[in-house]
Amino acid sequence: MSSSFNICVFISGSGSNLAAILNKQTQMGYKVVLVVSNKANATGLNFAKEYNIPTYTFKWDKHDNKIEHLQTIIKQYQINLIVLAGFMRILPARFVAAFKRKIINIHPSLLPKYPGLHTHTKVLHNHDKEHGATVHYVNQELDAGQIITQTRIKVASNISENELSNKILSKEHSLYPYTIGLIAQNRVEWGNDTLYFDHQILTTVIEFNE
Ligand code: GRF
Repeated sequence: MSSSFNICVFISGSGSNLAAILNKQTQMGYKVVLVVSNKANATGLNFAKEYNIPTYTFKWDKHDNKIEHLQTIIKQYQINLIVLAGFMRILPARFVAAFKRKIINIHPSLLPKYPGLHTHTKVLHNHDKEHGATVHYVNQELDAGQIITQTRIKVASNISENELSNKILSKEHSLYPYTIGLIAQNRVEWGNDTLYFDHQILTTVIEFNE
């Protein structure tokens, strides 16, 4: 049995975060062993092909509250962490419970501000001075699990929504590999119901601004 830290990345679309995660896997100490998509034609699947990584695509069924076929595949690949990267479906509670504290997500806002969609529009509409992205554990509520890391930017007064969204996306591309690396290296780990960072209780969030 290999001792690598195996991750599975779930995507639905362009997969630019997947590309960044693949690019930094050796440097950060994890290995992408499977890419999953609910869209057979997601363009991001091409990145998996480039790296010769197996893919698993399936048709989303909103009545399937366990997704047992996917659970079986994930167990076969001995996956340590499920990484949601632009996966545009809400996983059912029973699936999430089966992989408790083993699923993370990236969200384009400074959670708990702006869960859900259209975060950039909301930031501009409210004239927020700062914006950012968050990586958090996934629980049964949307965008509400324990926060691990955040990256933030200042919002220029004349920035367009498109520019803002590109800026945040490019920050995500360093935030996500860094965060997965922290978990792979056991620098971030759970002890009972408490999250630790470098053996200290994580009372706030880990700020990452590179
Ligand atoms: C990112 O903005 C991410 O925060 C959100 O979906 C987008 C995915 O983009 N969850 P990509 O597919 O990684 O390019």
